[in-house]
Amino acid sequence: MTTDAETIRDAVRGAYGERAREVLSGAPGDRAGGVASKLYAEADSLPAGVVSYGCGNPVAIAQLQAGETVLDLGSGAGLDCFLAARQVGPSGRVIGVDMTDDMLTLAETNRARLLAAGVHVANVEFRRGLIEAIPLDDAAVDVIISNCVINLSTDKDAVFSEAFRVLRPGGRFQVSDVVLLREISNEERADLDLWSGCKSGALHLDDYRSRLAAAGFEDVEIAVEANPTDAWASALINARRPGGGAPRRGWQFSGPTIELLAPAGLDTADCCSLDDPSCC
Ligand SMILES: C[S@@+](CC[C@H](N)C(=O)[O-])C[C@H]1O[C@@H](n2cnc3c(N)ncnc32)[C@H](O)[C@@H]1O
Repeated sequence: MTTDAETIRDAVRGAYGERAREVLSGAPGDRAGGVASKLYAEADSLPAGVVSYGCGNPVAIAQLQAGETVLDLGSGAGLDCFLAARQVGPSGRVIGVDMTDDMLTLAETNRARLLAAGVHVANVEFRRGLIEAIPLDDAAVDVIISNCVINLSTDKDAVFSEAFRVLRPGGRFQVSDVVLLREISNEERADLDLWSGCKSGALHLDDYRSRLAAAGFEDVEIAVEANPTDAWASALINARRPGGGAPRRGWQFSGPTIELLAPAGLDTADCCSLDDPSCC
């Protein structure tokens, strides 16, 4: 049984739109807030609407430098963009791209709240768009971050090829995502709730690595903290667009508060299989 790409994308957009509307109406789910405080030491300093649906903390591994231009694929409520903005400072820039209108409204609402509170987020902008057709020029950014989004795409090769295109030579791809450690059943693959919950669309670890390399990336490294009984795991993924005179190097995965195997995306019936007793 296969489900077509448009049906999957509509389901994902519908699920995250609903989540954004819940938060905009003033009722953020405990789970969304809980994920943020679990993954981010800095989350408590942000307004309640800046929730996370992520599965890691890409900003912790991105080693952002002042003045860099950062792109966040699937920026959600904006949390990673706001944290990245602090690190790149006033001379840097952060662009969040998301396909879900209500999520973009939530991100803009959060940005306005932070601006009103005197927090420097003037260098953050959110754009409506698909990560398979990124609304940016070639070689426009220094770093791409993303948190638990690429697994939701129905065309990962397009995402990787677009990421390569918009990165400057030598630019970094440093994301958190869910990966598969073993194959899942056709029923699980076709389950739209599991897709929206960041599971059914996940690539196998080895497939992730080889597709990034096929798109042209080098220095591809993936760190996974895996419970061998689970099919899914949170992963931190680093890669680089060749060129730009940047030296080849091993990546440092040991950021401040990286906690892998966090529950990802939306609640799903079997989220306890991600080994987190607090998630169900
Ligand atoms: C699991 S949430 C993660 C949001 C955010 N990165 C975070 O950590 O909280 C996935 C987000 O990606 C967006 N998204 C999913 N597929 C997308 C696509 N193909 N193009 C653009 N945005 C997408 C959804 O609208 C949603 O806001």
